[in-house]
Amino acid sequence: MFAEKTVLRIPGPTPVPPEVARAMGHAMVGHRSSEFSALLAEVLADLRALMQTSGSVAILAGTGTAGLETALLNLVQPNEEILSVSTGNFGDRFADIASRVGATVRTLSYEWGQAARAEDIERALAEQPGVKVVLVTHCETSTGVLNDVRAIAEVVHRRGGYLVVDAVSSFIGAPLPIDEWRVDVVVTGSQKALGLPPGLTLVGVSGRAAERMKEIPRRTLYFDLVRYFKDAQVDTTPFTPPVSLVYGLQASLALLRQEGLQQAQRRHLLLRDMTRAGVRAIGLPLLVAQDADASPTVTTVGLLDFDADAVRKVMKSELHVAIAGGQKHLAGKILRIGHMGYIDAGDVLHYLACLETALAKTGHAAALGAGVAAAQEVYLRHAHTGH
Ligand SMILES: Cc1ncc(COP(=O)(O)O)c(C=O)c1O
Repeated sequence: MFAEKTVLRIPGPTPVPPEVARAMGHAMVGHRSSEFSALLAEVLADLRALMQTSGSVAILAGTGTAGLETALLNLVQPNEEILSVSTGNFGDRFADIASRVGATVRTLSYEWGQAARAEDIERALAEQPGVKVVLVTHCETSTGVLNDVRAIAEVVHRRGGYLVVDAVSSFIGAPLPIDEWRVDVVVTGSQKALGLPPGLTLVGVSGRAAERMKEIPRRTLYFDLVRYFKDAQVDTTPFTPPVSLVYGLQASLALLRQEGLQQAQRRHLLLRDMTRAGVRAIGLPLLVAQDADASPTVTTVGLLDFDADAVRKVMKSELHVAIAGGQKHLAGKILRIGHMGYIDAGDVLHYLACLETALAKTGHAAALGAGVAAAQEVYLRHAHTGH
């Protein structure tokens, strides 16, 4: 009966809104047609507005990782020394991508669950004056930390550097205005807060980073951003784009326009605060201790002194709610809940109730309803003030 029922509360892919699913069923059009050119022009203009930049935006077929690799292939000279800041699994992967595209990678790593500190980055840059490009993950999806990109951008910019931000799991959920914060490259993916299936990566680039890219030897054909930007000026793409996903993106951006970016960000903060209050009331620890360091899009429960995956299994097999487990050394020790995209306050009450139920079912003395009640109180407090 419920073979296909899974309520996705993992940190991506996320549920696809019906409006977006319908849009992707649009009849196929040629990618050199006037219809597609109009579609592309509209979504690129919307994306520039969302990324808050007068710079350039490209849409490529590929997932977030392809976007990160694209950013580095275009911005970093072969053998150039760069600084990669890592607060978890995705930060480590970003460093790996950088070394594979030929950079000499210096790393600044933090314990999982800790946020990066701008003053550490400032010190690292003072010790390594050759470094011009800095990489950072905005929301570290493996831990649920949200790094303070605004403060980091300030120290990088003070030294004339370029900041590349992995915003795969934070885009829309947390503010990241490229021009105001003087960020240079922002990369995201379609399957997170945008509520699309996986398959698109979006890369936003500041004007000065776009200028630097023109000086870098071209060493990739498909991922050549300079070409994407040039073609975008005449409303086209270098290669066949994933047309159906771009129709889906148009619908997703229309939903965001209806809600408003600031309201969407407030909603994500509310979902975070409800979730954290619920987890605390259930009596479970939060990996990210400080609310200020906690991502509005992912909440991490743990470290747990019991088998976290057994709880997840009951949630999935009996209650049809999928949440994620830990990665690498945190496997089995944490639970990760994704609350980004097409998710509202009622969904939080539902997954907290299911979590409490699964905990009780796996032999943990959980006070049933305590987490839900705490989240309801947060909701009512915020609803009272209009969020
Ligand atoms: C912060 C972050 N960076 C990179 C990635 C990799 O993206 P993808 O799996 O779309 O290639 C993810 C995926 O979850 C992520 O959360």
